[in-house]
Amino acid sequence: MNRLTTSFAAITFAVLSSRLSAQAPDGKPLYLKHCRSCHGTTGAPTNQAKREHPDIRALDAEFLSKLSQDSLIAVITNGFEKGDEMKPFKKKMTPQEIEAVARYVKEVLGAPKPK
Ligand code: HEC
Repeated sequence: MNRLTTSFAAITFAVLSSRLSAQAPDGKPLYLKHCRSCHGTTGAPTNQAKREHPDIRALDAEFLSKLSQDSLIAVITNGFEKGDEMKPFKKKMTPQEIEAVARYVKEVLGAPKPK
């Protein structure tokens, strides 16, 4: 490949990947819309959620480090079984949106807090 072809390929790749990331749903607004009412903005459960579900735990770095991305997606998709504490989200979000929420929860809420 000559120089021109190489830079053309690089530009094409840059344009394509920026398009792709623009299309992927953003997890943050989805989390705030669907999860905040119980799990709080930062993953610390709201007072109301604690009253209604005394065993609700914080979605924090310690807990999330033990929960795989796949289990997280499964919980969001199918709900959390014990009782009907957390309803399934499979009818409210597309699989792509559920994946985006799971990524947001893992990467942002699950980020270790500076000590
Ligand atoms: C109606 C309140 C409510 C909403 C809305 C809700 N949850 Fe939950 N969630 C709960 C309760 C209650 C539990 C069960 C107690 C626990 O284990 O934390 C739970 C459990 C979980 C768990 C832990 C499962 C485990 O293995 O212990 C995760 C992760 C989770 N929720 C993520 C989410 C995400 C992400 C959303 C938004 C898509 C969401 N929840 C929306 C109430 C809710």
